Amino acid sequence: MELRAVTGSAGELRSDCVLVGIHEAGKLTAAAAQLDRRVGKRLSAVIRRGDFVAKLGETLLLADVPNAPAPRILLVGLGPRKSYERKGYRRALTAAFQALVRTRARRAVSWLAREPVAGVDAYYAGRFAAETLASVLYRIPDLKTGTKPPAPSVKRLTLGFANDRARREAQRGLDDGAGIAAGVQVTRDLGNLPANVCTPSYLARTARGVARRQRSVRVRVLDRPAIARLKMGSFLSVTHGSDEPPKLIVLEYRGSRRRAAPVALVGKGITFDSGGISLKDPGGMDEMKFDMSGAASVIGTFAAVAALKLPLNLVGIIPACENMPSGRATKPGDIIHSMSGQTIEILNTDAEGRLVLADVLWYAQSRFKPRFMVNLATLTGAILIALGTEHAGLFSNNDELAKRLERAGTKENELVWRLPLGDAYDRLVKSKIADMKNIGGPNAGSITAAQILQRFGNKVPWAHLDSAGVAWQDSDQKPLAPSWGTGWGVRLLNRLVAVSYE
Ligand code: BES
Ligand code: MN
Ligand code: ZN
Repeated sequence: MELRAVTGSAGELRSDCVLVGIHEAGKLTAAAAQLDRRVGKRLSAVIRRGDFVAKLGETLLLADVPNAPAPRILLVGLGPRKSYERKGYRRALTAAFQALVRTRARRAVSWLAREPVAGVDAYYAGRFAAETLASVLYRIPDLKTGTKPPAPSVKRLTLGFANDRARREAQRGLDDGAGIAAGVQVTRDLGNLPANVCTPSYLARTARGVARRQRSVRVRVLDRPAIARLKMGSFLSVTHGSDEPPKLIVLEYRGSRRRAAPVALVGKGITFDSGGISLKDPGGMDEMKFDMSGAASVIGTFAAVAALKLPLNLVGIIPACENMPSGRATKPGDIIHSMSGQTIEILNTDAEGRLVLADVLWYAQSRFKPRFMVNLATLTGAILIALGTEHAGLFSNNDELAKRLERAGTKENELVWRLPLGDAYDRLVKSKIADMKNIGGPNAGSITAAQILQRFGNKVPWAHLDSAGVAWQDSDQKPLAPSWGTGWGVRLLNRLVAVSYE
């Protein structure tokens, strides 16, 4: 995809499709007015006739309007001018690009960013445009064997601006947006692939692929013997029932020339969570292929951060394995030794995410001495009960880190909501015969899970994002659509680390 920003007039710049915004009550944007004059007021005529009322997200495609600089004109409704801001711009972009990709236009020019939008500078106008186009063009990597529908034809998107400063900023935004979108795509593909394709080894290969494309990224993959040498008894306890080899994937990104302490990102990489001996109900169990979404977001974030050349050092650590039942699987009641030395009584083998993260959080802080760590995990069904699909759960031992995550989430529209930690919750995971058990009682399930993680962070500034409600969307919310990975977290983490270096 070619993405560029230019200056010029909407009435002049030639393309296969020109996109202009119109506000409710027939208020033309400056670009729409330029185009309207060029085509002898035919846009005004359409609006006067009442065929286009410019509701936010409404679109109307006009063909072969005499004198137009393109054979297609796409009118894009922006809603009332007063209330048009950031969210509206995104919705308008989405609707506009959805209409655009239904046409066979190859080169499109959008004037939707020509006039400033409240809360969106030219840089973000470019970034959102690049990200939105990529998400509209995204197709699930399906394994259908028949003939595929024709690929979308749009090859070049140009954003038109009124002045040179805006054009330059927007070009930066377009370039960064393309880098972020590439990361998001890696993440979405990994989530959407079935678990017999997206195995721990596949996650490792994908991480290696990122390192091949980006010289600033290095990847090391530790296999079972190496994991055992590190004494990760908690991680390994989850792998015993599976024939699929586990992998500990370590990504390192060097963007800072100095030997600055890195930021550590940790992602839960359960490529299939059957529950193990504490087997899950069959209904919806297929969705547990998404239980590696945290890992996928970490890999996608490395792709994005490397594309943007952010000036910091980053390490990503992914415990990847399956959680399966078998004659060798860990049983309820088993007690295991974690790398930290703490013992864990496993009372429910379906509470496996905390077990793999326990060892890897300990490893992250002891081996890499990070400035702070963030882990991302589809950890608990309880977070869906608490927060639904709007916010991910945020837990942290550090108020400043929590605030940064909240701010980054709001900016990127990947929202997080902080929930408490505390001694009273921590007591709920006390065990009679080990240092802790791996589940609390029936209450506060997301918090007790976070308490267990906290025990392995060794007091390093740390945040845990429980993304079980946001990592994928199920068909109930979008009729006729199967469950799709959202790529949640790439934008949030990218922004967090982009603003967190000194
Ligand atoms: N991967 C699941 C959490 C999950 C459930 C994510 C539903 C998305 C949708 C996790 O490993 C799990 O099974 N958690 C248990 C914990 C319980 C046994 C304490 C849960 O949430 O039921
Ligand atoms: Mn589970
Ligand atoms: Zn799980």
